[in-house]
Amino acid sequence: MGFYSENILPYLLDWSLSDPNLALHRREILADVKGEVLEIGFGTGLNIPYYSENIKNIVTVDVNPKIHKLAQKRIQASQITVDCRILNSDNLPMADNTFDSVVSTFTLCSIANVDRALAEVYRVLKPGGKFFFVEHGLSDEPKVQVWQNRLNPIQKAIAGGCHLDRNIKQLVENQFDTVSLQNVNEDSLPKITAYLYKGIAKKN
Ligand SMILES: C[S@@+](CC[C@H](N)C(=O)[O-])C[C@H]1O[C@@H](n2cnc3c(N)ncnc32)[C@H](O)[C@@H]1O
Repeated sequence: MGFYSENILPYLLDWSLSDPNLALHRREILADVKGEVLEIGFGTGLNIPYYSENIKNIVTVDVNPKIHKLAQKRIQASQITVDCRILNSDNLPMADNTFDSVVSTFTLCSIANVDRALAEVYRVLKPGGKFFFVEHGLSDEPKVQVWQNRLNPIQKAIAGGCHLDRNIKQLVENQFDTVSLQNVNEDSLPKITAYLYKGIAKKN
């Protein structure tokens, strides 16, 4: 991790992802999270306020060791005990069938080995466990796709490896048999990041 990733990027991510319109999606997707919870790509802890009051503990992983500093104020303001681990989600040390729920918000875009990470999510979920996600990705509008492809290299360089053009539906369906998905065009965002994939995938 370089100076930019550790000292500047966390502030940029916290600012850009604090959008109140995104908070509505966070609230909606997190409402049904239950049991033993893992959140991948925890970032600055923006999801914490939206977990239900039944959730008492969560385990989180993130590769960026400096990003947790910004999560501290949200962790301290919450009743939830957060076990923050600096780990790559494509190689989790947790045993098979550990969690009832795994959460990812605006993270599948940034994980270098996303197929491997989704295989890990599947592995650590208990049978019947669910993967809850809200992600931005490949637009359904061809003209927007052209710009997503063009701007991808710049986005990756300035936003911690974030891809604009990942087909999140396909990625999740490659791993899970049962996926319920909603696509939303979030008008408050620039078109290249506005196409959201919001859903729940179930491990059978
Ligand atoms: C765009 S931020 C989203 C943060 C948070 N999930 C949110 O909704 O505000 C993506 C996060 O994923 C983390 N990340 C990227 N690659 C990762 C990986 N392979 N394993 C775990 N975390 C990763 C980054 O460090 C960053 O904190």
